[in-house]
Amino acid sequence: MKILILGSGGREHSFAWKVAQSKKCTKLFVAPGNAGTAQIAENVDLKLSDFESIRNFVLEQEIEMLIVGPEDPLVQGITDFFAEDPELKSVKVIGPSKRGALLEGSKERAKEFMAMHNIPTAAYESFTVESLEAGKKFLETLTPPYVLKADGLAAGKGVLILDSLDEAKAELESMLSDKKFGAASAKVVIEEFLDGIELSVFVLTDGKNYKILPTAKDYKRIGEGDTGLNTGGMGAISPVPFADKDLMEKIEERIVKPTVKGLQKEAIDYKGFIFIGLIKVGEEPFVIEYNVRMGDPETEVVLPRIKSDLVELLEKVSEVKLNEASLEIDEQAATTVMLVSGGYPEAYEKGKEITGFDAVQDSIVFHAGTKIEEEKIVTSGGRVIAITSFGTDYKEALKKSYQNAEKLHFDKMYYRKDLGFDLS
Ligand code: AMP
Ligand code: GLY
Repeated sequence: MKILILGSGGREHSFAWKVAQSKKCTKLFVAPGNAGTAQIAENVDLKLSDFESIRNFVLEQEIEMLIVGPEDPLVQGITDFFAEDPELKSVKVIGPSKRGALLEGSKERAKEFMAMHNIPTAAYESFTVESLEAGKKFLETLTPPYVLKADGLAAGKGVLILDSLDEAKAELESMLSDKKFGAASAKVVIEEFLDGIELSVFVLTDGKNYKILPTAKDYKRIGEGDTGLNTGGMGAISPVPFADKDLMEKIEERIVKPTVKGLQKEAIDYKGFIFIGLIKVGEEPFVIEYNVRMGDPETEVVLPRIKSDLVELLEKVSEVKLNEASLEIDEQAATTVMLVSGGYPEAYEKGKEITGFDAVQDSIVFHAGTKIEEEKIVTSGGRVIAITSFGTDYKEALKKSYQNAEKLHFDKMYYRKDLGFDLS
């Protein structure tokens, strides 16, 4: 089978690495890809928002499966675009329809979905510029901290957590009246603050059947001890040590099953991944968000722990026969440490040569923001390389990731050295 993966980060390199191992894959393309995907697949220079060019390429190359990495093309409706085109509709697209993608594309829609299907989440109300004063009054009824969420996609920056009521009111005004996050904050969801520890659960579904993939915990803040600005993710650990049998049963019964049933009840075409962001409050799980794709860097620890052939699983998804597939998980723990450009998530320089790849031992090097320039591998983004390792537990795996992090070099390279600090 000829397969095309859309995206260019560590997530997509991990997908390419796993798909390339499948005996079912005869030719693999990644668009636009990075220097890492170029080593195991053919990179294609396509814009993810340009569905016509993707269409032409898929037809020319007779691509049979399309795996969509990031959320943007899904929210823009790439799955529907394929389904509605007589020449493209036989392509197996992994990623939900536009209606499914709205679970990530609109926070308000996600909250309504959860309310409708009795899925535990924080209490909320949503406001627009017309109801700004009501929003301020609503804030007065809550206890701090205050959680404000831009309704639409805001590249991971749309959530504000504020300690003072005055600040919360001022931010609400700036989101609604001054469009702090552009169109994404034309509507704002204000919700109850949940105090607990976060984890993520990943589900593969064909819209009817599902498989729960390995759990993961991401480290989002730039600074050690979870301080400083939010990033796309500075590293991840799988499995989550505190996600024991009891908690996983609650998550499956109260969250995963009603989510998949909800999709079915609402006749939403959903063939792909659901990434459920959760907070464990006391012993109880609550949903903080849905994403309609895999996480990055969570994919870099989740996929390496899947022993089964991924392409076979995805074929079953496409046929709505996921119940017939088996999912085998590696018992070992996996960790990934993200090497980032100095300055990230604010301004940083690009084009720095990366060296030391040959010295890495016993880890997998996933490229995130890299490209080839004059036959050298150079940095091309904030998050540059994810180093994934295995161990009997996360501590052993982390040790290997850190040992290998020291072997890779680029100017102003930075990484967090305290992953897992909150777990023991
Ligand atoms: P999101 O973009 O929805 O994942 O939110 C970003 C981050 O804000 C999450 O990873 C949590 O750390 C935090 N967060 C979101 N909603 C809540 C909430 N209701 N209570 C506490 N923290 C939250
Ligand atoms: N690592 C968080 C995300 O992919 O959204």
